[in-house]
Amino acid sequence: MKTYNIAVIPGDGTGPEVVHEGIKVLDAAAAKFNFKLSYTNYDFGGERYLKTGEVLPESAVNELRQFDAIFLGAIGHPGVKPGILEKGILLRLRFELDQYINLRPVKLYPGVETPLKGKGPEQIDYVVVRENSGGIYTGTGGISMKGTPNEVAVQSAVYNRFQVDRCLQYAFEFTRKRNKRKTLALCGKTNVLTYVFDLWERAFHEMGAKNYPDIKREYYHVDATCMWMVKNPEWFDVIVTDNMFGDIITDLGAITQGGMGIAAGGNINPEGVSMFEPIGGSAPKYTGMNVINPLASICAGSMMLQHLGEENAASAIEKSVMEITAHKLKSLSAGKMGYSTTEVGDLVAKGF
Ligand code: IPM
Ligand code: MN
Repeated sequence: MKTYNIAVIPGDGTGPEVVHEGIKVLDAAAAKFNFKLSYTNYDFGGERYLKTGEVLPESAVNELRQFDAIFLGAIGHPGVKPGILEKGILLRLRFELDQYINLRPVKLYPGVETPLKGKGPEQIDYVVVRENSGGIYTGTGGISMKGTPNEVAVQSAVYNRFQVDRCLQYAFEFTRKRNKRKTLALCGKTNVLTYVFDLWERAFHEMGAKNYPDIKREYYHVDATCMWMVKNPEWFDVIVTDNMFGDIITDLGAITQGGMGIAAGGNINPEGVSMFEPIGGSAPKYTGMNVINPLASICAGSMMLQHLGEENAASAIEKSVMEITAHKLKSLSAGKMGYSTTEVGDLVAKGF
C-alpha cells in the first residue's frame, strides 16, 4: 500500500485542535482510497519557545526535507512578541524549503454566507498564486541610529528575474491545467513601484506571448484588484502576485468565501517538500473550547492530497465539506457553527 510520510506541526492556540480534525478526515480518506499516511509530530511553536528559548532547532529544516509533505496548524502566541514565531518558524520554513508558491483558492462553497451582496458560488471561484520566496517579506533591510531622533528604518522589496519567472511559469501552467477561463491576471503596482513591477510585467508578457498563447493575460493594480474582488469577483480565474500583495489580497479573498474558518493554502515547492495550512492564525482566545472551525485545516488536507497525487481522495473531501456547508453548518464562525470542532470533523469524515 502506498504510504506518505507527513510531518505535522500543530503549532499554537487552536492549531492542534484543527489539525486533529484535519488528520481525522485525512485518515478516513486514506482508508477509503487505499493509501496510508504516516505522521511525525513536531512541537514547534510558542510554548516550546517559551520553555526552551529556541524557535526552531538547527536540525529541523533538514529533517523536514525528508517528508512527502508538511501539515501545519497555526503559528502565533499571545505570550511571544509578534514577529519572532512568524518569521522564525513560518517564514523560515517557507524560505529555507524554497516553497516559492503560496497557492490560495478563493472559493465560496454552497450554503456559505458571503458579505458580497448578490454573489454566490458561481461568482466567487478563483485562485491566487502568491509568490512566496522573495519580496519585502524576506527581511532585507535594517535599522540604524535606533532610539534616536535620527532613526532610520529600511525594508526593501527585492526580486530577481529567476524568482519572478518561476512563479509566473507556475501560474501560467496552473491556469492552463485549471482550464476554467484560461485567464491569468497579474496584480501589481506598475504606476508607483516602477522597478519591481516593471520586471514582473515585462516577464509576464514575455513568457505569456512566447509559451502560453492560449492563456489570456490581464493586468490590475493591487488597489484596483481589491475593488474588483469585491465588486466583480467573477472576473477572476487565476491571479498571480508578489509576496506582500498576495498576503493582503488573500485575506480579502478569504472573507468573501466565508472567512478564516474555511480558507486554506499550500506553500508549494514543486521540486521539494510542500506545506499545507489554514491561512488564518492561531485564534488563541478560542483555544481548548472545541468551538473553532476546523474546515480550513480539513481543506488544507484536501489540498495536500491533491498535491500528493491522490486526486480522488482530495475531491471526495472537498465534496463532503460542500455537503455540510450546504446542509448542516449554521455559520462558519467559531462557536456559531451549530456543531463543535470535533463534530464538524466527524461529519466531514463520515461524508464519503
Ligand atoms: C499568512 C500570514 C503570514 C504571512 C504571517 C503570519 C507571517 O499572514 O500566511 O498569510 O504574512 O505570510
Ligand atoms: Mn496573511
